Amino acid sequence: MNWKIPLSDIYFSTRESNAVLKVLKSGWLTMGAVTQQFEQEFATYTGAKHAIAVTNATAALHLACLVADIGPGDEVILPSLTFVATANAVRYTGATPVFADIESEETLNISPASIEANINEHTRAIIVVHYGGYACDMPAIMEIASRHDLVVIEDAAHAIGSSLEKRMLGTWGQTGCFSFFSNKNMTTGEGGMIITNDDALAEHLRRLRSHGMTSVTWDRHKGHAWSYDVVDLGYNYRLDEIRSALGRVQLSKLDYYNEHRQKITVLYREWLQALVPAIKIPFRNHPGKSACHLMSILLPSGTDRRQFMDSMKERGIQTSIHYPPIHHFEAYRSNGQQTVSLPTTEAIAARELTLPLYPTMSSDDIVLVVRSVQGSLQEQ
Ligand SMILES: Cc1ncc(COP(=O)(O)O)c(C=O)c1O
Repeated sequence: MNWKIPLSDIYFSTRESNAVLKVLKSGWLTMGAVTQQFEQEFATYTGAKHAIAVTNATAALHLACLVADIGPGDEVILPSLTFVATANAVRYTGATPVFADIESEETLNISPASIEANINEHTRAIIVVHYGGYACDMPAIMEIASRHDLVVIEDAAHAIGSSLEKRMLGTWGQTGCFSFFSNKNMTTGEGGMIITNDDALAEHLRRLRSHGMTSVTWDRHKGHAWSYDVVDLGYNYRLDEIRSALGRVQLSKLDYYNEHRQKITVLYREWLQALVPAIKIPFRNHPGKSACHLMSILLPSGTDRRQFMDSMKERGIQTSIHYPPIHHFEAYRSNGQQTVSLPTTEAIAARELTLPLYPTMSSDDIVLVVRSVQGSLQEQ
């Protein structure tokens, strides 16, 4: 489909291609010095002590659960209004995801009150998802976690560059997991990162990422190790040098592009409010700094969303839904999951629609989208 305005877009300059070419010419493609540099730069950027590059955020979340010692018989509380990977990571460990409701029409993040209501003697951890890059209520959630002795894992896939109380998202919990999938604020195609301030956890994460081995090929290549032991059941979740080279350049541009996303979001809010006041826009005056990953709107109750999306499509505008709630999926309904009552999630998920948002959108592009929203709503 040839969209006039796609949902997201990627911009690479010669800096990305030069960085990738340099890796290709170096003759060393698997995890090595470039990945180490990327990790150091990401740690510095977020203010975390350690950053561990992995093959994607799903792997990051899986490892975050494993190092939190989550396993069969344990329950992990998380929102249902997220990408399925957040819950799948819990299930990979044999533990049970327990879905909590979101806060409100204004704040599509997990509700601290609903977290608290779902805690029982099996609960081991909470996974928060900073929806669209907007911070969850971390002070309240950290207080609940500390009172009940629970681990907090942050799914910060949308929140690269977001902060709350001047503290980067991903550094509030025990671990923070980031995605570099191609629609994210920075991309390596596929890729991810886990951050933590805990030295022992970082060492464990590094081992689990590479088959549970005590040394990796790069160490042996450099002559730092000649053999290895295997001390954990690990995985091959490594990132390679090509993607790390891309990641380094993308990270250096992140703040610049996030600022554009923030400006575009402000314009969207202003113009939507002025021209289509029936549309609700969540996260108004939300605390902290958002990476503005998603431009989510809520359609008026009773709108035929399918028809609305078709009408946007006819105008050349790509839209999406974030998210079909996980507890509705066949693979979750048949998982012996408890019958969940998530009234706010249900109500909001049925009305949510995501508009295009990417840093190089012009004012004309935004006007076209807003006018299309207005026209598509009138057609209902
Ligand atoms: C909230 C959330 N969590 C996890 C993931 C998984 O990320 P990845 O595709 O890097 O595995 C995504 C990706 O879209 C996401 O949006």
